[in-house]
Amino acid sequence: MKVLGLVGSGRKDGNTNHLIETILEGARSSGHTTKKIHLSEMTILPIGDCTVCWKIGYCQIEDDFNPLMQEVLFHDCVIFGTPVYWLGPSAQMKTFLDRWVCKINLEGDSFRNKMRGKKCLIATPHQDEKLTGAEYLFSIMERTFEYMEMAYLGKIQTVAWRRSEVSRDKTAQKYAFELGGRLSELQYIRRATGAVTFNFSNQTDAPKQSGA
Ligand SMILES: Cc1cc2nc3c(=O)[nH]c(=O)nc-3n(C[C@H](O)[C@H](O)[C@H](O)COP(=O)(O)O)c2cc1C
Repeated sequence: MKVLGLVGSGRKDGNTNHLIETILEGARSSGHTTKKIHLSEMTILPIGDCTVCWKIGYCQIEDDFNPLMQEVLFHDCVIFGTPVYWLGPSAQMKTFLDRWVCKINLEGDSFRNKMRGKKCLIATPHQDEKLTGAEYLFSIMERTFEYMEMAYLGKIQTVAWRRSEVSRDKTAQKYAFELGGRLSELQYIRRATGAVTFNFSNQTDAPKQSGA
């Protein structure tokens, strides 16, 4: 498979980057080809007045959104990496997701047809030691994937705060690598049991894996 990792943190060497990098390493170890994109290196502008675009029939915003969407469409599996910021995804990730509305409104079902069945996962570090710390983020993103009829394979979350803390967290490294290595298998697990959850806290070192 062609696997794309999106890093939605502005901290380029931060925990999200390490999580994504390790998942992609695991994916490469299983023969997948990978690419990583930092959203902070792209110019993705917020939505303006969509009704103007509907009238003229095209999106007026000129930025890197379309090239980034092309990358998403080109890859078989996309890992959406974002830290929890104020309970939800980072502004970079949320701004990117908001812009999908341009595609929905202007291309309608043809956009959904392109996204339908695309494999996707969420990778998120957060500071909250309770594993419910990412629940709103998961809710926003999982419902987005459901709306787009994408094939949501699973999620991994870890507790991390300081810069690169994930890179020193052996448990996080182990499970992120394993997740990447098992991407093909997850397709089948999902069909049988639903999306897979890798939940663990570096405080307790108590990994749990379950069907959602
Ligand atoms: C603006 C901001 C808001 C944050 N909000 C939350 C939050 O609501 N819940 C939480 O658990 N952690 C929160 N955090 C902590 C980050 O999720 C955590 O430090 C994460 O590891 C950062 O990932 P990064 O190194 O990839 O940027 C916040 C951090 C920042 C900078």
